[in-house]
Parts: sequence; C-alpha cells; structure tokens
Amino acid sequence: MQLFIEPPSSLAGTLKPPGDKSISHRAAIIGALAEGTTVIEGFLEGDDCLSTLRCLRALGVNIEGPHRGHVTIYGKGMFLKEPEDVLDAGNSGTTMRLLMGVLAGQPFYSVITGDPSLRWRPMGRVTRPLKTMGAQIWGRNGGELAPLSIQGGNLQSLSYTLPVASAQVKSSLLLAGLFARGETIISEPFPTRDHSERLLKAAGAALDVEGQTIKISGGRPLKPLAVVVPGDISAAAFFMVAGCIHPHADIILKNVNLNPTRTGIIDVLKAMGGQITVIPRGESSGEPVGDIHVASSQLHGVEIGGALIPRLIDEIPVLAVAAAVASGETLIRDAAELRVKESDRITLVARELGKMGASIQALPDGFLIQGNRGGDLRGAIVDSHGDHRLGMALAIAALVADGPTVIRGAECLAVSYPQFSAHMSILGVKVKEE
Ligand code: S3P
Repeated sequence: MQLFIEPPSSLAGTLKPPGDKSISHRAAIIGALAEGTTVIEGFLEGDDCLSTLRCLRALGVNIEGPHRGHVTIYGKGMFLKEPEDVLDAGNSGTTMRLLMGVLAGQPFYSVITGDPSLRWRPMGRVTRPLKTMGAQIWGRNGGELAPLSIQGGNLQSLSYTLPVASAQVKSSLLLAGLFARGETIISEPFPTRDHSERLLKAAGAALDVEGQTIKISGGRPLKPLAVVVPGDISAAAFFMVAGCIHPHADIILKNVNLNPTRTGIIDVLKAMGGQITVIPRGESSGEPVGDIHVASSQLHGVEIGGALIPRLIDEIPVLAVAAAVASGETLIRDAAELRVKESDRITLVARELGKMGASIQALPDGFLIQGNRGGDLRGAIVDSHGDHRLGMALAIAALVADGPTVIRGAECLAVSYPQFSAHMSILGVKVKEE
C-alpha cells in the first residue's frame, strides 16, 4: 500500500492519539501472569500489541478482545502452557524481548521468532543476562539473533548494570526476576521508560526503585489490574511536529501520556521555539496525562545528546523533520541505538528525507542537519522501508512540501498507529491510500 499526500493550506483540529504502545504490551503480559481477570481500556490495536496478544494466547492465556480498545485477560498465574508451535512476535521488539523474560521463567521449551526486521535485531542484550540467571537459550549467531529457543525454569537472581539504556532489556530482566529465587537488582546508565515498574508495583510485585536501580524479589503472585491506557506520546509527537512546522496550524492532542521518561520531545520542541502548551489532566492508571496544544512556530536548531536521548528515542525520525525546516543547525548525538530499531533509522532517515531536499548528514550516532529556514521541502516518492516511524515521519515532511508526496510501504503504519491516515484527514489533509 502507498500513501499519496497533498500538502494542505492549513492544519487544524482535535485528535485523540491511540493508546500507548509500551503500556498496552505490559498490561497484557502482566495481566496474563496475574491470578484473576485483568481489564484493559484504551489498548492499542496496532499490529505490535496484537502480536503480544497472539503470543500470550499461544501460551494458553484466555483473552477476549480487543474490541474498541477493550481487552479482558484471564490471568493464568505465574505459570503458562508450553506452546505447541513457534511464537511469532511479528515486527515487535517489545513483544520478543519482554516475553523472553517470561519464557526464561517457565519450566518448558519454546521458540520465538519474528519478521525479517526483527530477526535482524540484537537479542544478545537479553539472552546473555537471562542465561546468567539459568535459562538455556539458543539462537542464530550464538544466541544473538532470532529465532530463539528457550528452555526456562529454575532461575537465580541477578545483579546487573545494563550496558545500553533500554527499557525493553530492563523490563525483560524484571519479568524474569519475578521467577527467580531472591532479589534481582538492575541498574540503568540513564533513566528509561518506567511503565513496567509502575504496573508491576500496581500488581503487587515486591519491587523497589532507588534512583536508577530497581530491585525485584521473586516468588510473589501478581494481582490482576484494571488499566486505562493513556494516549501514546510517541504517536502524538508526529502531530506536535506537524503543528510546529506548518505555517497555518492549530492542533489539540487529547489525553496524552506525560510520564517524564517520555516527554523529551516536548522539551526539545519547546527549546527549538515550538508553540506548545501542556494542560495537565491528572492521572490515568498511575501515569500522568494531559492535553497538548500546538500552533505554527518559528523553529531554530538545537544540540541534543546524553540522558535526553532515551526520553525521545522513538521521536528522533520526526524530530529530524522539524530540524530540516528550522533555521540553523541541529546536532543529534549519542543515538547509535537508532541503527538497531525497526530499521537502521540513521541511514534511512537521512536517505529518505534527503530525497525530499533536506540537508541531513548521517553520523555514526546521530545526525547533523542544516535547516532550510521554513522553506518548502520537495514532494517526492519515498519509502518507509517497512519502518512505521520512518513512514510517518515522511508523511509529516510531506505536509510542508512543494507538491504531492508518495510514501511506499505504508501498510507498516498499522504497527503503532492504525488511525494515522484518518487522523491526517481530520486535520484537513488530502490523503489517499492506494
Ligand atoms: C520500548 C523501548 C524502546 C523503544 C521501543 C519501545 C518499550 O526500545 O524504542 O519502541 O516499550 O520498552 P529499547 O528498549 O530498545 O530502547
């Protein structure tokens, strides 16, 4: 499928972004391990979270839905059923890495794989520490690449400092820690999204957080949850950038998760001169939420790196679009992780935005971007390369192009934002799926 996008003369309206992807995965997995019935509202019906539900069903978990964001999970308690076939995580790194932590604790044999993108992504970062805890794991390239097979059970606790700041690795090890004898201690080099910690605590896990160290004790049963998933700031980010860069824009984004481990994109767009107002609206299932008002802005370049990067890692492709039309230079460093996301986002963001006339240089760990001072980009034929966030970032660039843009490989947008085209239309964009 391809998207055909015409640059609109104005961009206005109110959107409710889809449910948070990270929280949807975690609520389903923790609900499956709980004793009792977990009810989730606002579950993201994107392909990634559907992959998690498919794997949990194959592990014997009875699940109703999703139906209009409503999911009921009949928790099995800590021990699931040996799957009869290979588990398929699709395109979802979160599904594979988090479930590896659960499978490591199960006294049975399982195999997990994914699509070509996922089979190319590094898994040694979870398989190595899980093996240290006592799981037996085999995979291509010495356990680095899927398909991965696991004989789990009988885990020992672990004391471990993550070599890379990764919420997926942290969460995988915390889930494994639920099954281990004694206390598992995980330290992270920079704070990463803490949704697992919040939901595990709500489910009654013996979990303590001290700064960047998390301690979890195994052997305690989990209680079921009632989760209302807030809107995904990583989805909202596309329209935050759209509102800032379009000369006639006024957009309201409702019910967005404002967890401070996720709000780096708001901080950076504001630092670039973005007209962004946040209206706090309390909490949703232990996560701060609010509405975000965005209006046309005169953006200027910034330099970012360090601890900020994990707080906006998924937003860097669309941030590159903002930088490409800002005034001055933007330097993004310390983001080498982008090379092992759903695609090599450093190479492909630079290549595809380059086709639209952006002046963007790929660096080993980021980008150097020369903004065009609010000038138009070029309408072009570009490709998502099967990466949802690259596809959507290009669609946002298309809103300030001098003519129509075609985005090839647009079916992958359903990985995290199935309503993306519909939301473009609500704002007044002429967008056709062909
Ligand atoms: C996620 C963590 C991040 C992020 C991904 C979702 C999560 O990945 O890029 O989209 O839900 O834990 P890493 O843990 O690899 O940084």
